[in-house]
Amino acid sequence: MVIPIPCAVAVVGILHQTCTTKSPLMHTSPALMPQSALAAMVESEAQEEEEEDIRVRRLPQAIVIGARKCGTRALLDFLEVHPRVRAARGEVHYFDREERHNLGLSWYRGQMPLSRPGDVTLEKSPAYFVTEAAPARVWRMNTSIQLILILRDPVARVVSDYAQHVHRRVSKDLPPKPIESLVLTRNGDGRVNPNAKMVQTSLYHRHLRRWLRYFKPDQIHLVDGDRLVSQPHSELQQVEDFLGLKRHIRPEHFVFNATKGFYCLAPSVSSGRGKKRRQRCLGSEKGRRHPSVANSTLTALRHFFAGHDERLVQLTGRTFDWMRRNAQQFGEE
Ligand code: A3P
Repeated sequence: MVIPIPCAVAVVGILHQTCTTKSPLMHTSPALMPQSALAAMVESEAQEEEEEDIRVRRLPQAIVIGARKCGTRALLDFLEVHPRVRAARGEVHYFDREERHNLGLSWYRGQMPLSRPGDVTLEKSPAYFVTEAAPARVWRMNTSIQLILILRDPVARVVSDYAQHVHRRVSKDLPPKPIESLVLTRNGDGRVNPNAKMVQTSLYHRHLRRWLRYFKPDQIHLVDGDRLVSQPHSELQQVEDFLGLKRHIRPEHFVFNATKGFYCLAPSVSSGRGKKRRQRCLGSEKGRRHPSVANSTLTALRHFFAGHDERLVQLTGRTFDWMRRNAQQFGEE
């Protein structure tokens, strides 16, 4: 499941061609052209430049489909450092929410940012990854769309989901539920409940299999969420390659913020959100301190997901760092 595929390049190529078709005269040396033809050529070039500047809303050529709490916001915000990437602001939820899907493609297009020919338009809605109906709906819109899926340690993802639960409850003056009531079976045997929502989202191979019924493996690019945290530029460069973009994102675009504990955009780096003199970190809802979770619960979760990790390796041919870390930990137990 690796590296660049031609479809976005083709899509971008088609857009470019339709907007800037060159006259056959342009293959002739200007010195040999009659004046009228030269004037026509100059006019046509000026028109092309003007067309290049025309910004319209386009359907996305690529979608970040998930997974929730794996770094989808960081991925999208950091990708916008690339001058040819245009991303929708919020989560659009067109393929997972009935009422939005019923609004039709013109509504969906209206949610996209203005873009020039050759730009890559993107949106992210992590709910797509786990929604049964989403792959078929996306396929009906565009069979050659490019999909980006960011994954992280499934146990860390569950705890991150739980941190959000705690935050929501506390902000409403409600006591948080214990994590055990949300991820373990009710009979108190300490086993993981495979049907619990937080557990389900981390069953990556199941959801991915559903997407692979519609899309070729080389249409789905996997991003390692842990590496996006530790070395964002290298994960982002791989995404640039996948999208057929000229490489632009460099290590200097990021600075590590010790207070936040994450990389932020370096001061004066331009992105889809403009340019700021100070460094720009993600909001306080990203990179939260995780609540402490009993070791027995973490161990139950690790054992549960180990088998699912193996199936993900079989499906994708990819071993993620968290799998090696967890295997090492099991060896030490
Ligand atoms: P935590 O809040 O559990 O640390 P999403 O945007 O999909 O909801 O993912 C949120 C996760 O993005 C955060 O989970 C955090 O680990 C991860 N992340 C990756 N890079 C980040 C960055 N530079 N700043 C903040 N969070 C980042």
